[in-house]
Amino acid sequence: MTTHRTNSPGFDDATAESNRAPEALRSSMVEGIAARHEQLGRAMPTAVEAALRTVPRHVFAPGVELEAAYADDSLVTKKNERGVNISSVSAPTIIAGMLGQLDVQPGHRVLEIGSGGYNAALLAELVGPDGAVTTMDIDPEVVDRARTCLDRAGYDHVRTLRADGEFGAAEFSPFDRIIATVGAWDIPPAWREQIVDGGRMVAPLRTKGLTRSWALQRCGDHLVSRSHLMCGFVPMQGAGEHRGRAVPLYGDDREQVGLWVDEDQPIDAAALASAMAGPRAETWSGVVVDKGEFFADQDLWLVTLPEFCVLTAQQEAIDQGVVSPSWRLGTPALVEGGTVAYRARLRPADPETGQGPYEFGAYAHGPDAPELADRLAEQIRIWDRDHRAGPEPVLNVFPAGTPDAELPQGCVLDKRHSRIVLSWSEYTE
Ligand SMILES: C[S@@+](CC[C@H](N)C(=O)[O-])C[C@H]1O[C@@H](n2cnc3c(N)ncnc32)[C@H](O)[C@@H]1O
Repeated sequence: MTTHRTNSPGFDDATAESNRAPEALRSSMVEGIAARHEQLGRAMPTAVEAALRTVPRHVFAPGVELEAAYADDSLVTKKNERGVNISSVSAPTIIAGMLGQLDVQPGHRVLEIGSGGYNAALLAELVGPDGAVTTMDIDPEVVDRARTCLDRAGYDHVRTLRADGEFGAAEFSPFDRIIATVGAWDIPPAWREQIVDGGRMVAPLRTKGLTRSWALQRCGDHLVSRSHLMCGFVPMQGAGEHRGRAVPLYGDDREQVGLWVDEDQPIDAAALASAMAGPRAETWSGVVVDKGEFFADQDLWLVTLPEFCVLTAQQEAIDQGVVSPSWRLGTPALVEGGTVAYRARLRPADPETGQGPYEFGAYAHGPDAPELADRLAEQIRIWDRDHRAGPEPVLNVFPAGTPDAELPQGCVLDKRHSRIVLSWSEYTE
């Protein structure tokens, strides 16, 4: 679908040279995304694939080498004064996955929260000539850059807006679809109110350090999930800011091992840091996975535990044997008082060859290490027995103040504006 594009001559000028033409790089990028989808057991909708093949991603990454512009990686476009990423062009596989979740149809009115231009151009391809795309960002510099890139690539009909996405864009509502491309801790009321009944939003939602992109359908006064994906995003700024807290556990000059927790989770940081220097307890669960088997939903089961948080580690600390987590960028952990337990690096059934299947286990440090490691292993067994084979987890989002009696069964996560219920029952259409 190329009806809207009016490529301006010379838009390649700002981009560093490559031996391969952008079209060839774009084609390789799309094939890579399709292969990744297949690995994860998902199909990429044909309309999303066509949009990815059409939009010149390099135009939205001025100054970046062509090869890098088409790599399956995010491109950082702005850092704050502390060197923390605050704006980026998201990685193509994540973008494609979220667009698949959003299920945009020709003629839809779409709001994007968190701009860059690239995703807005893809949305413009998906809605076609009868639809409308508005993209908003809190940062004027980002809006200006997105505007320039959209114009250069021929998407001058996409509306750009500088405002805090927490409040949506009431003046252009209602929307058939809303997509947040920034990490949210809550679902602000405006997002639900500005979507038509039966309409859909996609938002990366974080709880206790764990983020998933949820597709949420509006059903009157509440939202019900239709799918979820793993993802990571820069956190929201402005009125909806809720950054979470990094708790360092090990490392003198910089945090080499740390926990990621919600702002209000009670944590005894000093006791935990001294526990890390002590001996390690370990427990193995008897639950195994095969190589390449996807088990990210186990984390969603574990996040329902009140002691849940996420452990992160630098490779250096792993190499030194300080910790051995299942994934260094975000392993499920439990904290109780001065004790921490985390999911261990999976253990191969055959230690000689390193061949699978691979067993889940838990390592723990602190005064109650054996007990907390056992509790984590027991929860992994419960996930295996009751939830692993489905149905998938479902999220219901109700307005804050909804009485308990009106909520479905499940784990209730109370946020500022919503009561979010995570449960394991079939999706309902
Ligand atoms: C990952 S980037 C968006 C990527 C973009 N959609 C693309 O096409 O690649 C996240 C953006 O969210 C913006 N942001 C953060 N808080 C916001 C808020 N409250 N309202 C609107 N935008 C916000 C940041 O300034 C940043 O530019």
